[in-house]
Amino acid sequence: MLETRLLNAGYGKLQVIFNISAKIRAKSITAVLGPNGSGKSTFLRAISGFATIYSGEILYEKKNITQNPAHKRARDGIAYLPQTDNIFSNLTVIENLKIAGYLLDKDETEERIKIVFDLFPELEALMQRKAGGLSGGERQFLAIGSALIRRSKILLLDEPTAHLSQRYSREILERIVELRDRLDLTIVLVEQNVKEAVEISDDAYILVNGKIVFGGRVDEILNTTPIDRIPARYFLN
Ligand SMILES: Nc1ncnc2c1ncn2[C@@H]1O[C@H](COP(=O)(O)OP(=O)(O)OP(=O)(O)O)[C@@H](O)[C@H]1O
Ligand SMILES: [Mg+2]
Repeated sequence: MLETRLLNAGYGKLQVIFNISAKIRAKSITAVLGPNGSGKSTFLRAISGFATIYSGEILYEKKNITQNPAHKRARDGIAYLPQTDNIFSNLTVIENLKIAGYLLDKDETEERIKIVFDLFPELEALMQRKAGGLSGGERQFLAIGSALIRRSKILLLDEPTAHLSQRYSREILERIVELRDRLDLTIVLVEQNVKEAVEISDDAYILVNGKIVFGGRVDEILNTTPIDRIPARYFLN
């Protein structure tokens, strides 16, 4: 579905990721793990068009999108949900969802809002609430819901469980699995909750200092290196 080949990227002159070759399989969940500052968010930004790419390629649905601007990648179905500021706080829940549908016609937006409310019934109950007044978990539901309105095919989720309680984090991760199964979405998940993320993922990549130190099928990684034997320094901040 999506592949990076020897991707080198960063911001202006600051290179952050080095020779990243990763394969994201259709309808899979791929975890991207690693310590703070290792380039996880930059990897997602490079895929979605918000970082500088120096060399390498990004292939999406067999097309080379390396040079495509961010808005075109978004329109083609790549949704990047940043770590923070991923909703309009001063608008209500329903206004957020309607705005997300600005490229669709009204009927289609309504139809997709129904799908989102079906997946996240708590959002329907909070429809008229200002998004800024939602709990952390509810905000994540809204951010994911907005991406679904846009008919995204691949969701790049940057720490959707950050600052949430353990109970809420589990709930979000369970919903992510449900989304994948019900809507055939492909999901790339950056996570600090390593164990929980690995449990729901098909594939995983671990980045350290902008390079991949482990990558591939979760089963295979766990066979060769049980998760509790992967050196702790890869996860400690
Ligand atoms: N917009 C930016 N401009 C310049 N440098 C940046 C920018 N965003 C991140 N960086 C730098 O790139 C490096 C990698 O940051 P990145 O956000 O990709 O790491 P991360 O693995 O997502 O970390 P975290 O777990 O803290 O979110 C850091 O040294 C950071 O300071
Ligand atoms: Mg990050």
